[in-house]
Amino acid sequence: MTRQLFVTTALPYANGKFHIGHIMEYIQADIWVRFQRMRGNQVHFVGADDAHGAPIMIAAEKAGITPQQFVANIAAGRKEYLDGFHISFDNWHSTDGAENHVLAQNIYLALRDAGLIEVRAIEQFFDPDKGMFLPDRFIKGECPKCGAKDQYGDSCESCGAVYAPTELKSPYSALSGATPVLKTSDHYFFKLSDARCFEFLQSWTQESGRLQPEVVNKIKEWFTKDEEGNGGLGDWDISRDAPYFGIEIPDAPGKYFYVWLDAPIGYLASLKNWFDKGGPAAKYGETRSFDEFIADPAVEQYHFIGKDITYFHTLFWPAMLQFSGRKTPTNVFVHGFMTVNNGEKMSKSRGTGLDPLKYLSLGMNPEWLRYYIAAKLNSHVEDVDFNRDDFTARVNADLIGKYVNIASRAAGFIAKRFGGRLSADVGVEGRVLLDTLRAHRDTVTGLYEAREFGKVLREIMALADRVNEYVDQNKPWEIAKQAGQDAVLQDVCTVCIEAFRLLTIYLKPVLPALAAQVEAFLQVEPLDFHATERALGAHAIGSYQHLMQRVDPKLLEELFAAPEPEKLIPGGEELAPEIKIDDFTKVDLRIARIVKAETVDGSTKLLRLTLDVGEGRTRNVFSGIASAYKPEDLAGKLTVMVANLAPRKMKFGISEGMVLAASHADEKANPGVFVLEPFPGAQPGMRVR
Ligand code: 2FM
Ligand code: ZN
Repeated sequence: MTRQLFVTTALPYANGKFHIGHIMEYIQADIWVRFQRMRGNQVHFVGADDAHGAPIMIAAEKAGITPQQFVANIAAGRKEYLDGFHISFDNWHSTDGAENHVLAQNIYLALRDAGLIEVRAIEQFFDPDKGMFLPDRFIKGECPKCGAKDQYGDSCESCGAVYAPTELKSPYSALSGATPVLKTSDHYFFKLSDARCFEFLQSWTQESGRLQPEVVNKIKEWFTKDEEGNGGLGDWDISRDAPYFGIEIPDAPGKYFYVWLDAPIGYLASLKNWFDKGGPAAKYGETRSFDEFIADPAVEQYHFIGKDITYFHTLFWPAMLQFSGRKTPTNVFVHGFMTVNNGEKMSKSRGTGLDPLKYLSLGMNPEWLRYYIAAKLNSHVEDVDFNRDDFTARVNADLIGKYVNIASRAAGFIAKRFGGRLSADVGVEGRVLLDTLRAHRDTVTGLYEAREFGKVLREIMALADRVNEYVDQNKPWEIAKQAGQDAVLQDVCTVCIEAFRLLTIYLKPVLPALAAQVEAFLQVEPLDFHATERALGAHAIGSYQHLMQRVDPKLLEELFAAPEPEKLIPGGEELAPEIKIDDFTKVDLRIARIVKAETVDGSTKLLRLTLDVGEGRTRNVFSGIASAYKPEDLAGKLTVMVANLAPRKMKFGISEGMVLAASHADEKANPGVFVLEPFPGAQPGMRVR
């Protein structure tokens, strides 16, 4: 029967680029998803940016742009990684999407109607300068236990103590430096301590065969109260006060959902977005709406996550779904962390981390990493270490030495001696070998299903060993020299090619791009698991192109080389070559009044400015500042323009000059454009010198 699967990975915060930990999770989930698709199952694999929360709001404010723009900038960088490592998401969305606002509000209202929301006044640190409550991470002070200075509000990095921010000595706001004051405010709580939640979660988490055993054990600890009655399932604070970048709580002005409430709902929002775009209809002829699909008990729902967010996904999330009358996840697959070179702490400045984009830009094959990570993964919550020598050895000795070489050993003879044609049938020895390979299909698929990727690759490599033994025993290169042995040579090489095809089927979830190359070389339809039942027979194959390069250890040296110590360059840009005063006076800078500012139809970048430079007429200037300013922010303001720039014909009209604005050389990393404004008193037409 065709299974229907809804699969997600954790939604990354939209305040930074992907690191190797994200990529590892995506590779793990992608292998599983590709495996399911190859089985003929229908899979909806979705992700999204986790857009909300105080850190993103604050980072956007620092950059001088809206949080929406900030998140959009980060989102624009995602594709490079996802395509680069062949991650086959069907959809990528944002938790700030309209779907998520509606879904989060509806789920909240259902929880409220179920009597599971409670309002309680709590006291918290408030930054009087910024006019906002401070998240724990933005309160600093001296550790109450050891006295270490500049410690965060939740824990001490020096002695490891965990405490409430209100316990810090001499607290200060990391945003403004002000001394925070205690202030009371109403917060909304999800009553996880309610007996209904407790009972439901007990049975949901302990249902046999659901969660991984180590996860079940961890959850048991969370359920247990200590002798003093502390611990156990506490109520969950799901609200934050304005200003906050998030989703407004219905009927509660100035209150927003805490980012972790709407984040997992973002899984549903991305799926809904995918349905509303017609993705499932086009791909699988799906006729149901999102609402019908997600309520169908036959649909399986899986979340791949890291161990640090287990609590949210195995307690809060199923409870939210259950008590809002929705279907709960089928399973949550928890993985460990990714460490690099024996757990060396990942530090950018020391250059020990594995930067995924640097990996790609060095021309390293993404499938080396997919293979290596797969080889180290199992179904347990264990950390995965990237070790460079191990990486080189596994790729060169196993992937290339054992598997890829099988094709190169046989393809040449088939092409040169037999015009690319394989034998219709092969001898007994060859048939036995191929049957052995075919007989392992259920073992292979069983291991993929169970996410035992390390085991599955060991199994496949053991099969490759057998094929290589066959080659070594039959020595096609010697048969080739003997007269009258053509039929034998063709048979032996046919066995190799057929074996290579079978191994490719087994490896395809891990190595999709390589498998596509092999399909082109063998001139066959896309391979799935049913393809093991067939044989190529007297089929003509294409010409063999080298399939994969070996890892050159020099690449790893470059990958882990400390980045050039960053020279301090103001604004990220070297100074331009020296000029003389005459050079400068050639540029006629004038004070201009922005009479009018308008958006430009068909351009998201440009604003059309009408400028008065005291000439008794106005000038029309296009300026690439639409990402930073709304027209109404600019109208009436003074600025500085280059007034003697030759008029330029642009797509939208003629631009008669240029307005001055500051920006960082690396605008992606340091977003923001800042238009110049003179001190008060300057008049339109005055020269700037
Ligand atoms: O820990 C994180 O990076 C979160 N942004 C994960 C959210 S997963 C889901 F709930 F959205
Ligand atoms: Zn301390």
